[in-house]
Amino acid sequence: MQNFTYQNPTKILFGKDRIADLAKEIPAGQRVLITYGGGSVLKNGTLVEVRAALSHAVVTEFGGIEPNPSFENLMGAVKLARETRTEFILAVGGGSVIDGTKFIAAAIPFSGEDAWDLVIRKAPVKEAVPFGTVLTLPATGSEMNSGAVITRKSIGAKLAFGSPLLFPRFSVLDPTKTYSLPPRQIANGVVDAFVHTMEQYLTYPADAPLQDRFSEGILRTLIEVGPITLQHPEQYEARATFVWSATLALNGLIGAGVPQDWATHMIGHELTAKFGLDHAQSLAVVLPAMLTERFEAKRAKLVQYAERVWDLREGDDQTRATQAIERTRTFFESLGVKTRLQDYGIQAADIPNLVEALEAHGMRALGEKRDVTLDVSRRVLERAL
Ligand code: NZQ
Ligand code: ZN
Repeated sequence: MQNFTYQNPTKILFGKDRIADLAKEIPAGQRVLITYGGGSVLKNGTLVEVRAALSHAVVTEFGGIEPNPSFENLMGAVKLARETRTEFILAVGGGSVIDGTKFIAAAIPFSGEDAWDLVIRKAPVKEAVPFGTVLTLPATGSEMNSGAVITRKSIGAKLAFGSPLLFPRFSVLDPTKTYSLPPRQIANGVVDAFVHTMEQYLTYPADAPLQDRFSEGILRTLIEVGPITLQHPEQYEARATFVWSATLALNGLIGAGVPQDWATHMIGHELTAKFGLDHAQSLAVVLPAMLTERFEAKRAKLVQYAERVWDLREGDDQTRATQAIERTRTFFESLGVKTRLQDYGIQAADIPNLVEALEAHGMRALGEKRDVTLDVSRRVLERAL
């Protein structure tokens, strides 16, 4: 196991009716900015409950944070927060609203000339306005981690940034607030959480049996409850299990002390920035191709994955590892998430542009051994056609 620092200060308020507990988390009279997305939280009643729980605070609202939140839009919230002297931000929504809020929290006190530097130049976050979240979409883990992915539309860039100052102070996880999700977003959430786990697990053996077992537990749980929660969205136990799995897939626990890959995510971000694929759609396309392209380097873990996650115990290593990749693809497809570039209208002729974008964004040495060069990424995309 490698040396590691593990820090997670986010307090989780899990279960039905926990929104009412916001009243205890936010002091009376505090100036709070509520951030939300395109209106789902208005339609499903979440925002009404939040407003009621914050009746003792001084509330301002900023709606309209879009999926794959954009710098251009978020700067409007930064302006509003400065004008209203926001003391605390409450993000109500999915990963995009929470990520957008992390950027807003860091940008409000940022003293440099251009807040985009926080993302593109990784300018250090010296201060951030404290914030909490009310999660409505299980997928990203953003509710319990300190990272965010921000898009700058004008230049077609989608990039990650983060800071230990950007953990939410608390997150309310009420599974019933996710019942209104359309099937596409539920399936996306299962795929995203699955791929987060794979990015931290499917690398090479690292003498970390506990982290391996945690990851295998999350993967098996997602395989079990994913289809149930998709078919029966209001079955509480399955949904609650899914919500908690997605949070634990990216809150630092399974990744502590182990090598991590993330090449699938970095290539996926380019697909979203250029072609507008949902985040999880991009991952469902890239992951099977990535595992096939890097089969030899990942062979030992692929065999372990085949045995322990998919119960493939017959045949030689090569066969079982290959079958495990196929099972992964079939699982994504069974949820309704397509796994080929051409399913999204992307052709071979588009690949050079994607590789150029990777280069422009500094993505020349990806993966757990930094050996995913632009050439390897090109071959992954070719396999994904
Ligand atoms: O905008 P509204 O109207 O709220 O609708 C949203 C949006 O259209 C809708 N939705 C959310 N909760 C709902 C609901 N609809 C009905 N009922 C509800 N309860 O779902 C749509 C998608 O929302 P979004 O927040 O974009 O989805 P997700 O949570 O999948 O977040 C994706 C973003 O997170 C980033 C992705 O790159 C992408 O930008 N990621 C963030 C990570 C992190 N911070 O750690 C890690 C991930 O790998 C990921 O990259
Ligand atoms: Zn993701």
